[in-house]
Amino acid sequence: LQIGIVVVAAGRGERAGQEGGPKQYRRIGDAPVISHTLRRFAAWPGTACLVAVTHLDDDALFDHALEISRIAMPVMRVHGGATRQASVLAGLRALRQQAPDITHVMIHDGVRPFFDAALLERCAAALAQGDKAVLPAVAVADTLKRGDAQALVSATVPRAGLFAAQTPQSFDLDAILAAHEAAAADGGQDFTDDAGIAEWAGLAVRLVEGDAGNVKLTVKKDIDMADQRLATPAI
Ligand code: C5P
Repeated sequence: LQIGIVVVAAGRGERAGQEGGPKQYRRIGDAPVISHTLRRFAAWPGTACLVAVTHLDDDALFDHALEISRIAMPVMRVHGGATRQASVLAGLRALRQQAPDITHVMIHDGVRPFFDAALLERCAAALAQGDKAVLPAVAVADTLKRGDAQALVSATVPRAGLFAAQTPQSFDLDAILAAHEAAAADGGQDFTDDAGIAEWAGLAVRLVEGDAGNVKLTVKKDIDMADQRLATPAI
């Protein structure tokens, strides 16, 4: 397999509050969130090519994050779009055009800096077995409730067979690029993840075991907890 990595980091991060800028550039430990994410991919031997999708307004922030990350591998920068879906498509197109040898892609949220190599290996193993779409996910542990507009519970949703989707979602590059192009041309839905686009396009999506530590930093508290996690010496 020749695996390209597309890290999306073009969001504005509104849910973390505007103060301090987009969450992917907040500092945790010794470096911005995105620097940690890129370092982990650069350190994984399976990474053949690294693409970062960033926002036009964040060029200076990204330059700084890249410098601090001190990774040896070149990082291809592409500007993203108004939605996550548009940003991923920009990254996939760049990968296809600039790196013709790449056969597979892992698409990852820049705001998930805590994945480990074992997770990447599980995704790569499924790709090597011929799966065209691979989704790391964890079985839902909480009891799930549906709430109504009055903040009353309207139903309890059985959690058996339910999974929380993570990234990197991993694909045959031609298959996911075709699915993304078709979804963009259709325009009917805004997909929040790439496995959703693969499903929509009729690809079978293989579930592999995710990692409870592979959290998505969404609100300010997540950033603070991530910073503490990096400050605590490993036992
Ligand atoms: O908004 P959400 O939390 O789903 O964002 C997940 C990831 O997608 C983040 O890393 C964010 O930077 C990225 N994103 C993007 N372009 C957008 C919106 C989100 O690259 N327009």
